[in-house]
Amino acid sequence: MNADVYAVQHIRRMRGGSQSHLLRASDGNYYVTKFQNNPQHVRVLANEMLATRLAQWLGLPVPPVGVIEISDWLVANTPEMRIKVGEASVPCSSGRQLGSLYVADARTAVYDYLPEKALQKVANLEDFARALVFDKWAANCDGRQAIFTRKNDREGYRATFIDHGYCFDAGEWLFPEGPFQGVYPNSCVYAGVRGWDSFEPALSKAECCDVAELARFAQGIPEEWYGGDSESLEKMVEALFRRRNRIRDLIGEFRCSTRNPFPNWKQHPALPSRPSFDPHP
Ligand SMILES: Nc1ncnc2c1ncn2[C@@H]1O[C@H](COP(=O)(O)OP(=O)(O)O)[C@@H](O)[C@H]1O
Ligand SMILES: [Mg+2]
Repeated sequence: MNADVYAVQHIRRMRGGSQSHLLRASDGNYYVTKFQNNPQHVRVLANEMLATRLAQWLGLPVPPVGVIEISDWLVANTPEMRIKVGEASVPCSSGRQLGSLYVADARTAVYDYLPEKALQKVANLEDFARALVFDKWAANCDGRQAIFTRKNDREGYRATFIDHGYCFDAGEWLFPEGPFQGVYPNSCVYAGVRGWDSFEPALSKAECCDVAELARFAQGIPEEWYGGDSESLEKMVEALFRRRNRIRDLIGEFRCSTRNPFPNWKQHPALPSRPSFDPHP
């Protein structure tokens, strides 16, 4: 995404707790835009940028994100560009906001949910297991969210992963853990999991990551998205680095949970779940 894009037209309000809006930008593309004064937390914007870079690096299908500049003029002249706070509302922030490239052209249908029969036939269903690596690593405190698109009736739906605002525990930048955190609500997306190989290559890549690589993902995030608190951002990245060897355990906890999400797991439960070598002892 071009760093210099600015919004030229408001299209519509989107669903969801962050009260994002779809905007047309100066590069002719459409962006789902999250604002600094969203009701969740300003850090949600920083989280989206860092987490998207991490997810891209792991090879997951995620929309590119970047900075979209919003003028005072556009906000002042667009009555719908407001954030609701209880009964009242305030204008959306102007300045640098977070834009997520709209995955289709503005006229193509994008689905937030698919019925189970259609979900089971999603062309890249195996990406959900790899997304679990990402969500467990980043301590996504929300459920995993995906959107589904297809080019024509002959092709299957494809999933794209969105909404990483609650990674790193939203505004807290802590890493709480729970077996159902960051998982997709319908376990049928994990039916193809046969063992640890189903999480590759994302799992090995995460476990062998370099702290400098992670620090690079935090570069260039507008400082107003984290209150200029570089020290906290640095600490969060270091904590993320240290967690790389927790991912298997966290997936293991989900595996042993009451939900039994991987009924087709072939590996004998008595076998060690960790590889015999540890790249980062
Ligand atoms: N890149 C995108 N392309 C198409 N639709 C998107 C994109 N990002 C978000 N959406 C749509 O916008 C809605 C809100 O985005 P989301 O990231 O889930 O924000 P929230 O934190 O408010 O839930 C989603 O439910 C989805 O329908
Ligand atoms: Mg959402």
